[in-house]
Amino acid sequence: MESAFKEDILKGKVALLTGGGSGIGFEISKQFGKHGASVAIMGRRKQVLDSAVSTLRSFSIPAVGFEGDVRKQEDARRVVESTVKHFGKLDILVNAAAGNFLVASEDLSTNGFRTVMDIDSVGTFTMCHEALEYLKQGGPGRGSSSGGTILNISATLHYTAAWYQIHVSAAKAAVDAITRNLALEWGTDYDIRVNGIAPGPIGDTAGMSKLAPEEINSKAKDHMPLYKLGEKWDIAMAAVYLVSDAGKYINGTTVPVDGGLWLSRPRH
Ligand code: HXC
Repeated sequence: MESAFKEDILKGKVALLTGGGSGIGFEISKQFGKHGASVAIMGRRKQVLDSAVSTLRSFSIPAVGFEGDVRKQEDARRVVESTVKHFGKLDILVNAAAGNFLVASEDLSTNGFRTVMDIDSVGTFTMCHEALEYLKQGGPGRGSSSGGTILNISATLHYTAAWYQIHVSAAKAAVDAITRNLALEWGTDYDIRVNGIAPGPIGDTAGMSKLAPEEINSKAKDHMPLYKLGEKWDIAMAAVYLVSDAGKYINGTTVPVDGGLWLSRPRH
């Protein structure tokens, strides 16, 4: 689908995306690149990264991949530094890395809970923390330009409650708190905007195949009038908007991009 934005809306920007090699993260990488950004992607699987980078390059997008796990602070630091070394600066950080599985709370071990908190919440904080030096106004490579921006990929699960996803609900609630608190502190002190996107069910993603098998999808339509699958493109367009100058007055909010699904109720 064609973009509604001008091709050069992100021209000259450098973006680093965790989880940028697959799923929603990859689509955001691609759309950032198609709108003029240079793109660094971070992930744990070399093969996934290599193939993502070569696809991005086939669109003439300046792209590079760095292996790393957001749970390891030394990886976070190394990848942020490598991105700046490679492209000269950092303007946009997207935290899209996430872990998930369906499990009843009574069957979930503390370590299982902690693992998802570590990836989604602590990982997001760690990446933001390591990137701060480069994102802040006047930071290395920024010259006199304004501060950079952070985008955290969240979910809508924790707006209400979600079956078998206590770990992810807790983790994404923490991500939203990180978004708001950093927007306040770093918006004030460093001119950095921090926002989030909460995707609804998006077709052709690991999230959907792992969490919502086909039989759940078809049943959901009876219970939730607004149930409609989104596309990765929908999330990427919201991301382009939020990180671009079109979103320059938006700070500290997480935008649900779910067709209104989380508000959905049966008619009777
Ligand atoms: C119960 C499980 C489990 C499962 C893992 N664990 N899978 N418990 N049911 N299906 C427990 C393990 O038993 C272990 O606890 C602990 O979690 C750590 O598991 P490991 O396998 O050692 O962890 P690791 O190899 O680091 O894998 C992390 C992962 C994995 C989260 C478990 O699924 C992963 O890496 N996923 C990344 C890719 C992914 O899921 N992407 C989709 C994101 S979709 P014990 O106690 O045994 O030691 C998404 C959408 C969110 O985020 C919003 C949806 C609407």
